[in-house]
Amino acid sequence: MLQIEKNHDLTPYTTLRIGAAAEFFAVIKNKADLLEALTWAKERQQPIFILGGGSNVLITKKVKGLVLKNEITGCHVLKSSKNYTWLEAKSGESWSKLVNFSVQQKLYGLENLFLIYGTVGAAPVQNIGAYGVEFKDVFDHLVAIDLRTGRDKIFSLADCHFAYRDSIFKRRAKGRYFIYSVVVKLRRQAVLKLDYGTIREELTKRRIKQPSLAEVIKVIQFIRNSKLPNPVVLPNAGSFFKNPEISQAQFKLLSLTYPDMPKFIISRSKVKIPAGWLIEQTGFKGQRLGSVGMHAQQALVLVNYGQAQPREVLALVRKISQAVKRQFAIDLESEVNII
Ligand code: EPU
Repeated sequence: MLQIEKNHDLTPYTTLRIGAAAEFFAVIKNKADLLEALTWAKERQQPIFILGGGSNVLITKKVKGLVLKNEITGCHVLKSSKNYTWLEAKSGESWSKLVNFSVQQKLYGLENLFLIYGTVGAAPVQNIGAYGVEFKDVFDHLVAIDLRTGRDKIFSLADCHFAYRDSIFKRRAKGRYFIYSVVVKLRRQAVLKLDYGTIREELTKRRIKQPSLAEVIKVIQFIRNSKLPNPVVLPNAGSFFKNPEISQAQFKLLSLTYPDMPKFIISRSKVKIPAGWLIEQTGFKGQRLGSVGMHAQQALVLVNYGQAQPREVLALVRKISQAVKRQFAIDLESEVNII
């Protein structure tokens, strides 16, 4: 029988180690638990909030209704063809476990997404990405459970409306589904994406021309560890803001004043500016405001130095957003889900 607790503190379930209580809370270990929770919530007309690895969330106030901590785990080979292997993972499985499993199976596609915190179920919501690869590049389909009816629904690539750190699950389908399992389609032959600046630089430094899967993993591990703080040691939620998109026209204008302004080209009319660079320019890199601050090695990562209160985070976020707006006329948008 499902255990539902009242006023349960969510702080330990977030990598930022900032939280508040859930009005009601249950750990979901399997589909039966989930269906029981849905019935419980329906009978009492309580809203449902799903928590995965807590690595992309800032909880600022008591969460009303029933919070479900997704611990439905497992991953396995679903099928193989000459060129591809499909892996299926349950949504509460750790993303790292799936990546490690794919590497053990000598499959290609997930290596650039190595060491990203969080669960498999969050990957499609966020369309997680790193070093030139996004989750959508390996996605095959997923099974979600309709929170209102308890029925399964299959989402194809087209159904998910993936975009930069965005999907239908953050928009039209927000709060409507529990993502239950995800299937990724991985290559059996070596196809590596090595064009991201820091990967290329690191491979050149190591004099590696044709890296193996293991070498790519090592390089990514090295880059991430040198820039991104380990949340177990220094609580954080990865990139706090999205990299903003601006028009080529605005970029041209800004680069008259900031000739070194970096960019990622998106289309003929749009470029993406690294928010870390913008924040660094405003002087917030490595700066501390009370118990929170922006990381000294990566200005995009907001860290909790211990016992930080949600209002301290919100104050720092406001200050940074205002500074970037004042200096560059660019709006920063939070990447972290603020509740
Ligand atoms: N930069 C600075 N100062 C900084 C940080 C970055 O000037 O303090 C500039 C540099 O020019 C650097 C460029 O920004 O070359 C890009 O930096 P980095 O490679 O670290 O990537 P990012 O754009 O800051 C994004 C993702 C990360 C992902 C990396 C690598 C977003 C919001 N973030 O960061 O994802 O790991 O690229 O692909 O798109 C996450 O989503 O939580 C996350 C960590």
